[in-house]
Amino acid sequence: MPSVIAIPKEAALEESRVATVPEVVQKLVKSGHEVRIEHDAGTGSYFPDNLFSAAGAKIVSTPAELLNGARIVLHVQTPTLAEIDQLAEGTIVIGFINAARNLAAVQRMRDRKITVFALELVPRITRAQGMDALSSQATVGGYKATLLGAVHSPKFLPMLTTAAGTIRPATVLILGAGVAGLMAIATARRLGAVVEAYDVRRAAGEQVRSLGAKFLELEINAEGQGGYARELTREEKLQEQQMVSSAVARSDIVITTASIPGRKAPLLITRETVALMRPGAVIVDLAAESGGNCALTQPGKTLQEHGVTILGPLNLPAQLPFHASQMLAKNLQAFLALLIDSKGDVVKDFTDEILAASLLVHAGEVRHGPTRDLLQGGNA
Ligand SMILES: NC(=O)c1ccc[n+]([C@@H]2O[C@H](COP(=O)([O-])OP(=O)(O)OC[C@H]3O[C@@H](n4cnc5c(N)ncnc54)[C@H](O)[C@@H]3O)[C@@H](O)[C@H]2O)c1
Repeated sequence: MPSVIAIPKEAALEESRVATVPEVVQKLVKSGHEVRIEHDAGTGSYFPDNLFSAAGAKIVSTPAELLNGARIVLHVQTPTLAEIDQLAEGTIVIGFINAARNLAAVQRMRDRKITVFALELVPRITRAQGMDALSSQATVGGYKATLLGAVHSPKFLPMLTTAAGTIRPATVLILGAGVAGLMAIATARRLGAVVEAYDVRRAAGEQVRSLGAKFLELEINAEGQGGYARELTREEKLQEQQMVSSAVARSDIVITTASIPGRKAPLLITRETVALMRPGAVIVDLAAESGGNCALTQPGKTLQEHGVTILGPLNLPAQLPFHASQMLAKNLQAFLALLIDSKGDVVKDFTDEILAASLLVHAGEVRHGPTRDLLQGGNA
């Protein structure tokens, strides 16, 4: 039986994204589902109510109207405690939950017997590529990071030959060549910069070179489990910092994206390295939220040290909300295709590898081991 699918307006400050877009609503409605959208949910991402109603959604103005009878709730971020209290037992919530940072909400959803799928837990396997929201949003973040770097730089990025003289291209360095880093490289190349990049995973070298950038190599290969990086040893960290600091010192813009799942971000740019940079240089630290790759980064702030501008942006995807929402909506649509069978029923069990891995809370239990450990650590 088709379901009622509800999409609330995100409550988090500066969250301009929405979890679905009219194009996806149209498909869900065509499959027989009732789609309810909270008034103004898409305004911040430039999808006004009238586009949603034209696509067949019902626009509602109160949380009670939105959630009453809803089987599935699609979110960008974690629901608020007030919203959770209005959800009926067994409601399915899908979104970025970031459990470690939102333990109170996870606990409340557990106690209210909500079923929660966390997008950040979707495994990075080929079959799950269409629902890989971490990748879609990292793509947006990487693009925007290069643009921010360009806007804060006092220099042109491309080489120019003009009557007023020849301008040398800017040098852009990308530290961490995962999904965001590769997009940052591609964007900097399109703007005409000379680009260098570094990653502890040697496998990233080929992708970096294929984008027309130079790959900086160390003798280290720190490819860990599941294609992610492992933490470096003390000696390896020293080698890395030496190489990184000379590359940083010759760059006009440095974009850092290095992270290790579940750990504090690795420190790649020390205070001393910042002092070696040219005045006017810019650092955009995409790891600001998880501790920063630069020692001077302050999350959510832009500051100047030794004439170097250091940006620690939070939630960059929300700064490009139209396409970030569109991509996220497509990821959620692909996830729903796995969760709902051809008759419109929610599947009976969640044994599929993707559903099982992303199931955070179900039937009054936290199913994700690390989150359960965190809650038990706090005796919750
Ligand atoms: N479906 C798929 O097959 C799929 C989808 C997306 C990503 N992936 C892979 O998953 C991996 C992680 O991607 P991500 O963007 O989510 O990564 P991430 O956000 O966890 O980390 C960003 C990058 O930082 C690098 N890094 C970590 N420590 C570093 C250090 N000390 N110095 C320099 N770089 C450091 C990592 O190697 C990674 O490339 C990549 O191999 C990517 O290709 C696979």
